[in-house]
Amino acid sequence: MGQHLLTTVAEGRAFMQVIDGKAVDAISGQRIDVACPSDGKVFASIPASGVQDVDLAVQAARRAFEEGPWARMPAVERGRLLARLSRLIEKNADELAALESRDTGKPARQGRADVAGAARYYEFYGGACDKIHGDTIPFLDGYTALTLREPHGVVAGIIPWNYPLQILGRVAGAALAMGNTLVVKPAEDASLTAIRVAELALEAGFPAGAFNVVTGYGSDAGAALSAHPDVDYVTFTGSPATGTAIQQAAAVNNRGVTMELGGKSPQIVFADADLDKALPVLVNAIIQNGGQTCSAGSRVLIERPVYGKVSAALAERFAKLVAGPHDADLDLGALINPKQRARVAAMVAEAEEAGAKVLARGAIHKDAPQGGWYHVPTLFGAVDPASAIAREEVFGPVLALFAFDGEEEAVRLANGTEYGLVAGVWTADGGRQHRVAKHVRAGQVFVNGYGAGGGIELPFGGFKRSGHGREKGFEALYDMSATKTVVFNHG
Ligand code: NAI
Ligand code: MG
Repeated sequence: MGQHLLTTVAEGRAFMQVIDGKAVDAISGQRIDVACPSDGKVFASIPASGVQDVDLAVQAARRAFEEGPWARMPAVERGRLLARLSRLIEKNADELAALESRDTGKPARQGRADVAGAARYYEFYGGACDKIHGDTIPFLDGYTALTLREPHGVVAGIIPWNYPLQILGRVAGAALAMGNTLVVKPAEDASLTAIRVAELALEAGFPAGAFNVVTGYGSDAGAALSAHPDVDYVTFTGSPATGTAIQQAAAVNNRGVTMELGGKSPQIVFADADLDKALPVLVNAIIQNGGQTCSAGSRVLIERPVYGKVSAALAERFAKLVAGPHDADLDLGALINPKQRARVAAMVAEAEEAGAKVLARGAIHKDAPQGGWYHVPTLFGAVDPASAIAREEVFGPVLALFAFDGEEEAVRLANGTEYGLVAGVWTADGGRQHRVAKHVRAGQVFVNGYGAGGGIELPFGGFKRSGHGREKGFEALYDMSATKTVVFNHG
């Protein structure tokens, strides 16, 4: 990808949202400035939609669901549309990757990886469309009973800013595969690629109203969408507090929800672990995307005999990490906005005041633009498990280390937060691999590896405060549909 595209893509462009197959502005005409986190400069704008715009999008999605080609389309045809969208994403990969990096500040290679991940979601769910089906059920004499998997109807997807392309892919891929129609509200800080993907969906041949994107603030467009009485199902990824607000809004209409609300995911390193294999993964699991990853490995629990060795090795690696602009493609980029940077800085300062010891700090590149929203990678050692930095999601490049004695304490510490999204276990002992995987409360457990955000095929979601429902893989298709039981009495 040309360096040029990374710093010039969409320059000065006034983006439109996609409602009912058309590019439209907000009814109010109000706009939100789009700034690049690498330098803090405004380069484009998006519509600032509200209640009325959301209503138009939901009405369009409703019409597409009830009438027209989408309502009667065979599963194999939906699959072909999704496959075509996947290929169009690949064809436009350079532009999409540059848009994603400029909009979020993520390093260029991460932008490219996110495009590949997004294309893979539409490919996977395109292939799954005509391979999911119901059951026949042995019932009373003279009866035949069977189940059908039916779409919910209009699905609302409220998307965060950390992996806009990928999270849109996992929501839209599964929802559309099951025959739902979709209204997506991307985050106000990262809406550009959602708009482009909805445009590409039209190019792929999706009928008007099947795939709508409404942009705007969460408190306006997001709140209106989650409370809309004609939305049948809501799926959300983001903070627990906003998740509560969205569930309350959906509860007024008694609608179902999928909630993916982040984590404080532990990696457990036993004394017999293969450290050469573990160390780069431990660092990458927190540094990828500047730590702004729901499944970031933000805690490392280390068995006491190797605590000194592992913490020293991690400190050595952390001290070499460098943050800089997305086009420089360094270890990490800037954080999404000044508020997120201030939040991370406050949590780091609070941890230091509470007595946590900084083992190492990385750097911000000397040529990084002054106006960018950078935060230095920070490694805390021997953290008190009761402290805030040990329990709360930071969503920044901050890693906390803990020492433990034995398997039982490891599991207790791993489960000692309100979250339960992902966990990693590093040990050569096969019995221990199974025991720990069983006893850790997390939606995904990796043994001798870790996959922050990866694995389109792998069901993903939380226990406890990390949320409920499952996305990714074949399981997402169950969340995006409902069972209808049909009983024939032919006796
Ligand atoms: P947020 O959860 O408020 O925003 C996520 C999405 O929800 C955005 O599209 C936003 O416009 C929308 N939204 C906000 N308020 C809404 C409402 N009342 N009704 C409907 N939609 C609404 O997250 P925010 O404020 O950007 O970040 C705060 C913290 O959330 C971060 O520091 C991080 O800890 C966590 N977070 C977690 C994510 C994850 O992947 N689990 C992603 C983004 C943030
Ligand atoms: Mg942005």
